Amino acid sequence: MTRSQHTTYFLTESPAAHRPAYQSALGRSLDRLDSLIGIAGLRNPKIGQIGNRWAYCDGPDWVMGFLSGQLWLAYQLTGNPALAAAARARRPQFRAVLENRKARDHDLGFMFSLSSVAEFLSTGDEVARAMALDAARCLLGRFREDGQYLQAWNPVGPQNRSQAKFANGRMIADTIQNLALLHWAHRETGVTDFREVADLHEDSSLRHLVRADDTSYHTFLFDPATGEPLRGETHQGYADESSWARGQAWLIHGFANCHRLTGRKASLDAACRLAAKAELLMGDSAVPVWDYALPADGTHPIDSSAAAIMAAGVLMLADLVPKAEAARWRAFGHRLLDGLLDHCDLTQTPGAEGLLAHGAGHVPAGRGDAMLPYGDYYFIEALMRAQGHQTFFW
Ligand code: GLY
Repeated sequence: MTRSQHTTYFLTESPAAHRPAYQSALGRSLDRLDSLIGIAGLRNPKIGQIGNRWAYCDGPDWVMGFLSGQLWLAYQLTGNPALAAAARARRPQFRAVLENRKARDHDLGFMFSLSSVAEFLSTGDEVARAMALDAARCLLGRFREDGQYLQAWNPVGPQNRSQAKFANGRMIADTIQNLALLHWAHRETGVTDFREVADLHEDSSLRHLVRADDTSYHTFLFDPATGEPLRGETHQGYADESSWARGQAWLIHGFANCHRLTGRKASLDAACRLAAKAELLMGDSAVPVWDYALPADGTHPIDSSAAAIMAAGVLMLADLVPKAEAARWRAFGHRLLDGLLDHCDLTQTPGAEGLLAHGAGHVPAGRGDAMLPYGDYYFIEALMRAQGHQTFFW
């Protein structure tokens, strides 16, 4: 008998709990994760290939923590020591990130919240704590006082690819997800710089990335020499003035989580405004298209990862807003999860190695329809939130 047939993961004390379809999907996801441990070994999924097989990261990569994050969540749910061991065995790969200046960019938050912080919170391991604090210090060092933002990328990436055109003077929407590492470091050490920089970067995200109509820029450019704010630009979206669906989702989840961590009202308002706009722009589609400003004619790739991130974000919002508003966000979260289960669920597809099909990794670069490890991580987080869980590693 598989786990999905005999184990329950809902929290009975939660009013949100007990939707049998989500319970079953979570069970099937954990079964899939069990099989993946044997297939992947120490490799970390990067992107799906034909036949729903994974291609793996080749060295440091911003996506390398998402399997660890899934393993630590599965360990939290099951207590199975094999899951913790599989996650812990990846530690040398994260140490290698700390020792490689080209790999230490704004994505240290994604990488270390879901690996070293997760390990420390799950087991109390002091080495994991020290690694997470090293990562947080490196992230702190990326703060640009002149423009009040964390610089996203490096001129040369970890695979020695030049990315100078995108690097200097740029903040991006995705970075809001990385602020949780700074907030954790502040709680852990009491050093106020961590909290101040997280708040300042968040303020700049609100000022420069969120437009007056509640859509968002993917990136914002500052004069690299002076820090003077220049203009919004896209990197992965359809156009500079469009609204990339995953960027909007990163901001929704990120602002909601910042509010959860700080209680700042502006963060909650921003998350609600962005979520309401995304809901409006989705129209009656079950899964968002990859950018909300695509031409009306023609069919466009959907992005399951944007749906999963946004589902986790709005289900978190439901736990943060006053009771009267909670039902609205819970219903939107359920709608997104239902869309994923109806159109993208691979957990019942024999031979598939991941959980969700139809992720839009980087459409302008030709990666428009694949499994994505972050889609899978946030799918599990959203299913858990829908079942009433509130303990994560952010
Ligand atoms: N953080 C990069 C992406 O969302 O594709």
